[in-house]
Amino acid sequence: MAQIYARITGTGSALPERVVTNADLEKIVETSDEWIRTRTGIQRRHIAAEGQTTGDLATEAAQRALEAAGVKASELDLIVLGTTTPDIIFPSTACLVQHRLGANGCAAFDVNAACSGFVYALGIADKFIRSGQSRKVLVIGAETLTRMVDWSERETCVLFGDGAGAVVLEASGEPGIYATLLHADGGFKHLLYNPVGVSAGFTDEPNHGVRINMSGREVFKVAVKTLDSLVDETLQAAGMEASQIDWLIPHQANLRIIEATAKRLEMPMEQVIVTVHEHANTSSGSVPLALDYAVRSGKVQRGQNLLLEAFGGGFTWASALLRY
Ligand code: COA
Repeated sequence: MAQIYARITGTGSALPERVVTNADLEKIVETSDEWIRTRTGIQRRHIAAEGQTTGDLATEAAQRALEAAGVKASELDLIVLGTTTPDIIFPSTACLVQHRLGANGCAAFDVNAACSGFVYALGIADKFIRSGQSRKVLVIGAETLTRMVDWSERETCVLFGDGAGAVVLEASGEPGIYATLLHADGGFKHLLYNPVGVSAGFTDEPNHGVRINMSGREVFKVAVKTLDSLVDETLQAAGMEASQIDWLIPHQANLRIIEATAKRLEMPMEQVIVTVHEHANTSSGSVPLALDYAVRSGKVQRGQNLLLEAFGGGFTWASALLRY
């Protein structure tokens, strides 16, 4: 039987209207545009309006991806949505988005893999298509991470933003996704976590103590090392050389981490999609936002090979090597 591949047939993204610059943050915490830019590459970020949810951004991104693919919501077999900031505890944000799109009846679920959420969701969707279970799948990465930011903590509040991206995957005889790799090591929980959930840490406090706890320097070191071995492992799984990759589309957390991965691949920065200066770290939204920017700006062309990778709380890390 001929091999079935999952091909990206459309991309879309959505960002909140409100933009907060580094200069704006200088007014609320002791920081400087210079510190933020040199340490992270971030210049500005989009912040969700009051009442604007992860599901709102996800729906908008999904509509654009469906339109680009020429696929009707009613044709979808599956929706997988990566997020750490769901609208409500249940139903899943994937179910909320499904109903708003009018895709009722298909399978729909969320994946929580922190910043690796979209690439995890893509890996899962790829398996559904390869197995013949699904033919048209919507994969979304969406977050309103700034809702859990402590705006008095300069170590973390400068790093994050809100946004969403989506792709439509369709079964095809042509590649398609060559390989996806998903990894996690819960032994690193203490370096990056939010202590509040339903079953632990929940209090009657106004914000329930929700905040991002992060040991930035340690996260940085593990991220660089882990992404180094991830790109090697991904090339091996796909049977490819680094020189065959046209574009690196990395998780957009920190420009210095991105540069380290590009160096490992001996790739000039001209072949790396960078949006961290505009979006900051949008967690699960980051890779699909960067991908949609790359497609719509005409950088990424049909037939090119793309390496997507992400790293996040858990720790989790994941990659996908595909022909666009
Ligand atoms: N503005 C000004 N100064 C700040 C600051 C801010 N926003 N945040 C921290 N500082 C200070 C620190 O207090 C520290 O001061 P000290 O030397 O007097 O103690 C100093 O800057 C240097 O801190 P350090 O942690 O060494 O900086 P760094 O070069 O490691 O950069 C991060 C900090 C957070 C930008 C960097 O470690 C990082 O990006 N880590 C990875 C985070 C990440 O990507 N998380 C998500 C993963 S998905």
